[in-house]
Amino acid sequence: MTVAPEALALLREWLPGNEDPDRPRMQLATLDETGAPDVRTVLLSEWDETGLYLHTDANSRKVAQLTASPAVALDLLWPGFARQLVVQGTAERADPDEERSAYARRSPYLRQLAWQNTHELARAPREERERVWAEFQAEHDIGGLEPPATWIGYRVRPTRLTFWEANPAGPSHRVEFALAGGTWTRSDLPG
Ligand SMILES: Cc1cc2nc3c(=O)[nH]c(=O)nc-3n(C[C@H](O)[C@H](O)[C@H](O)COP(=O)(O)O)c2cc1C
Repeated sequence: MTVAPEALALLREWLPGNEDPDRPRMQLATLDETGAPDVRTVLLSEWDETGLYLHTDANSRKVAQLTASPAVALDLLWPGFARQLVVQGTAERADPDEERSAYARRSPYLRQLAWQNTHELARAPREERERVWAEFQAEHDIGGLEPPATWIGYRVRPTRLTFWEANPAGPSHRVEFALAGGTWTRSDLPG
């Protein structure tokens, strides 16, 4: 299923292109094993007509939560509180080509972090973490790194997209697209 054509046009207008190195941040909400909500910030790695993609560590808490319950919400906020995009949907594993290309587009720092973001190193003192970090750089060509086995990507397939826009000259306004029974419906809502 692809998003409603009108919503796709708004995504094109609002989001940077996938090659833009300045990636938007988004809040990713999941459900934990007790049904309680959890949330954290991740980068929007890329998007297409089928959904929004994020990447993370397969050993992370969020991945355990997504495996148990793929229902998610995303919130993206624009500078100056000019715009907000809220997405409700279902997370599914991205395909291997997408995961590899997203890794290749990450900054050198984030490519290295994907290798060294471990519980073991997190427990070491700061000086030790910095020593191990520098040692890794001396031993590897960061530009040519392959993704670690723990690198994992998800596509969030939207079932609802809500575009909120500020308007200093009038009331803020939302345009919402909701998917039900295979059909997208548009609503105009108060901010
Ligand atoms: C601006 C910003 C961007 C982040 N981007 C990511 C990301 O793209 N992927 C990721 O796994 N963690 C990212 N993090 C770290 C997460 O917020 C979080 O601390 C980490 O993924 C562990 O989350 P979890 O324990 O809920 O799985 C980012 C943090 C910040 C502040």
